[in-house]
Amino acid sequence: MTCETPATAAGSGGKWYATLSTANIHAGGVSTAVRPCFVEFEPAYPLWSDGLHKRRWIYLPPGTKIETGPNPVTGAAPNMDRWVFPVGTRFLKEFARSDGKRLETRIWERTATGYRYGAFRWRADQSDADYTETGGPAALTLDDGTVHDIPARAECAKCHDGEPGKGLGFSAVSLSKPPLSPSDLTLLRVIERGWLSHPPSSLPDPALGSPVPGTSIEAKGMGYLHGNCAHCHNPLGVANAVDMQLRVRYGETNAKTTFMWTTSVGVPSKTWTKLGAALRIDPGTTALADGLPLKSAVYVRQTLRGSNDQMPQLGTVLVDTMGLKDLEAWIKGL
Ligand code: HEC
Ligand code: HEC
Repeated sequence: MTCETPATAAGSGGKWYATLSTANIHAGGVSTAVRPCFVEFEPAYPLWSDGLHKRRWIYLPPGTKIETGPNPVTGAAPNMDRWVFPVGTRFLKEFARSDGKRLETRIWERTATGYRYGAFRWRADQSDADYTETGGPAALTLDDGTVHDIPARAECAKCHDGEPGKGLGFSAVSLSKPPLSPSDLTLLRVIERGWLSHPPSSLPDPALGSPVPGTSIEAKGMGYLHGNCAHCHNPLGVANAVDMQLRVRYGETNAKTTFMWTTSVGVPSKTWTKLGAALRIDPGTTALADGLPLKSAVYVRQTLRGSNDQMPQLGTVLVDTMGLKDLEAWIKGL
């Protein structure tokens, strides 16, 4: 039970461990590795965080399982696409500069009464990280002189509440990928560990690297939207008109039958009139236009920064040029 939430942790209402060193995560102080009961994982479709290096871990209490079944028809949680984690589960995500200096560590936990989120700002000397309720600039600047912005606690829910079970990078879709190493925590490994209450009867082909049927260009483009946009753009999220969430294959046999395709390819953009004049977006702009990135609202809005029109709306000040290239390649091939 060495990785449980410490008994001294304060309750709800924004209270949290004052420092990371009191959160019972590292055995020998924060400069050492996290305890072995936290298992590292890497989602197939990471969220762009202005190029920072991110590491993530999960702690699942011994003897518990992730609730995964079964309701593929109604989409109600839980099901294979909407995992619900047991009480006591803890997730960590660490943000670091290219030189390895840590900037921020985020934690979310499932408690007996709900979910708790928190962010910790690493001190410049790396001796510890302090809890922050309101977020704000990290203690160290980045290579290019800009400053990473830590989200306020209230902002965590804006993205994580788009998923009833709160886990955004630990899901059937995100873990359906070729293993990065023999021990990499893929969907197959999660099943082997006995972590799922209802393991799927068949698995997406890991060699394809994606549960999306289709070519690798389709998988990259659609995977990018899933990882960066689906937490808000899904039927239960704050922006549900365009559905960018991938699901494990329930009868989907090619990319054109996915929800992402049917809700966006060739579907008129709802907000072009608001933005159209300012951005000179063609009135014919659709959410995703066949072959034409500049007529695709999902593409154009990702090239914007510094206003509410930018997508994603939170967590980034720099355009993801590499990600946009993947998206462009996919849209051009539509
Ligand atoms: C802009 C949307 C957004 C905001 C704001 C946000 N997150 Fe996340 N978070 C994500 C996405 C998407 C992932 C999965 C992809 C990845 O990790 O690259 C994720 C992953 C995580 C993970 C790893 C476990 C998981 O769910 O995949 C933790 C822990 C986490 N976030 C904590 C937090 C906390 C705590 C806050 C607030 C201080 C926060 N996040 C704010 C979008 C967000
Ligand atoms: C933090 C939540 C959030 C995230 C993450 C997010 N969006 Fe949005 N998005 C919204 C909201 C809210 C709206 C509706 C208001 C508006 O149009 O500005 C919206 C609207 C849009 C629209 C307009 C739809 C239409 O019919 O015209 C597009 C296109 C869009 N988003 C693309 C994206 C893309 C691409 C990403 C990922 C790179 C993304 N969004 C990530 C919240 C989000």
